[in-house]
Amino acid sequence: YEYDLVITNGVCVTAADVASYDIAVKDEKIVLLAPSGSLAGANAEKIIDAEGGYITPGGVDCHVHLEEPAMFGKGSSSDTYETGTRSAIAGGCTTIVGFAPQQKKEPSLLKALADTHARAKGNSFCDYGFHMMVGNPSPEALSELKTLSENEGITSLKIYMTYAALQIRDDQILSVLLAARSNRMLTMIHAENGDVLNWLTDQLESKGLVAPKYHSTSRPTILEAEATNRAIALSSLIANTPILLVHVSDPGATLRIRQAQTAGQPVFAETCPQYLFLTRDDLDAPGFEGAKCVCSPPPRDKASQDAIWTGLRNGTFTVLSSDHCPFNYDDAEKGKMTCITAENPVGKFREIPNGIPGIETRLPLVFSSGRLALTKFVEVVAANPAKLYGLYPRKGSLIPGVSDADIVVWYPEGRRDITITNEMLHHATDYTPYEGRTVGNWPRFTIIRGKVVWDRDNGGVVGEKTFGKFFKRGPSSLGRIWETAQKQGAFDVATL
Ligand code: URP
Ligand code: ZN
Ligand code: ZN
Ligand code: ZN
Repeated sequence: YEYDLVITNGVCVTAADVASYDIAVKDEKIVLLAPSGSLAGANAEKIIDAEGGYITPGGVDCHVHLEEPAMFGKGSSSDTYETGTRSAIAGGCTTIVGFAPQQKKEPSLLKALADTHARAKGNSFCDYGFHMMVGNPSPEALSELKTLSENEGITSLKIYMTYAALQIRDDQILSVLLAARSNRMLTMIHAENGDVLNWLTDQLESKGLVAPKYHSTSRPTILEAEATNRAIALSSLIANTPILLVHVSDPGATLRIRQAQTAGQPVFAETCPQYLFLTRDDLDAPGFEGAKCVCSPPPRDKASQDAIWTGLRNGTFTVLSSDHCPFNYDDAEKGKMTCITAENPVGKFREIPNGIPGIETRLPLVFSSGRLALTKFVEVVAANPAKLYGLYPRKGSLIPGVSDADIVVWYPEGRRDITITNEMLHHATDYTPYEGRTVGNWPRFTIIRGKVVWDRDNGGVVGEKTFGKFFKRGPSSLGRIWETAQKQGAFDVATL
């Protein structure tokens, strides 16, 4: 065959363009974009007729928690690499970046990385990489960043300003940022004021206010805005070190990020579907049901949702990730119900594991929302994540001769109305917070490196868990400012 795969009659969308092309694939790469219909009779092993449907690059989801030890509350993740990536491909996602979690008691980052490789290898339906999650930024641990970045393809870190198991102090944040800069790494920051939310949690508990909805009360927006401001202020002391504020939910935090960007600071931001589609009212469901939507930061109000959509459209948010961090609901051993006791029949929100599943629903929810231009949609779910995390243009685009053939073929417009139920999803979690919502489209085919791995109408998941490859990532192409002249007037520890 001249080609391994040809897709005809589709409307191709990238971050830059919307145009009708046929696509030819050979040896895992996109090799040709040709005028629409011109490849219908090509000599190809497989031909897919897109019937006028949109074609996008596969989703790149760079915020996914799989098989991590309990660090965000009591339970442990319900999805393994196998089940989480199975869910990913069924929702049009072709590459994930998960976390290699270093716990406080674990001195070595390289050890944490090796353990994570062992869990993922041979168990991933899609391509993958890892961020280092730094729980203990000791000098020894930070001395390993060089190996991670230069040899292991780990070019990003996540640090936390909350969670007992992970929270680091401001001086430690500075040490991480300085070491990250020397090693050309991007630092992801979870910005919530942990000390204050613990204090508020004590106050609520002393009044007996422990039901799931008080999770939201314990984390008012100002805690996120304060920590976001502090992260930005700290990063300004280490000139030219890029940071990314993860899972931003609050308009105040968004405004502070925008202001830093306008001032020329290398500050990036991420948001997630839960801040676009859920509100705090979802935590106020009867009994313990609200626990299904307990994540941090918590979903806010309608006005906040609008502000987050605006931040996506105006470029304040570089990426839109799932923050897939699933725990079963009806599971007293490992799930949300671990916090239910005889004294607290509606649970104790402090102990509810934080996080919700969403790897499979991310693309369909946002694609169908009608609230982002199609090019913007591809930008925030595929192209920018690939650029930000050193995977572009191999991932995140449809460039002939350059991009892997990671492709989503959507249904022709107006043909589908799909009601989301947990039963139709492919994760190993017993609920979805989006149960009963209707979306107007869904990935019909998901293709990774030229191979159809998801065929919704013919077999569903048709990929294999051994197919996904680990990708060593290069430095961020968006955050690539390490060498640029230090900003005038910026205090810079490195010059002391
Ligand atoms: O509630 C959340 N977001 N759980 C996942 C852990 C994290 O902080 O990203
Ligand atoms: Zn072949
Ligand atoms: Zn986080
Ligand atoms: Zn997360």
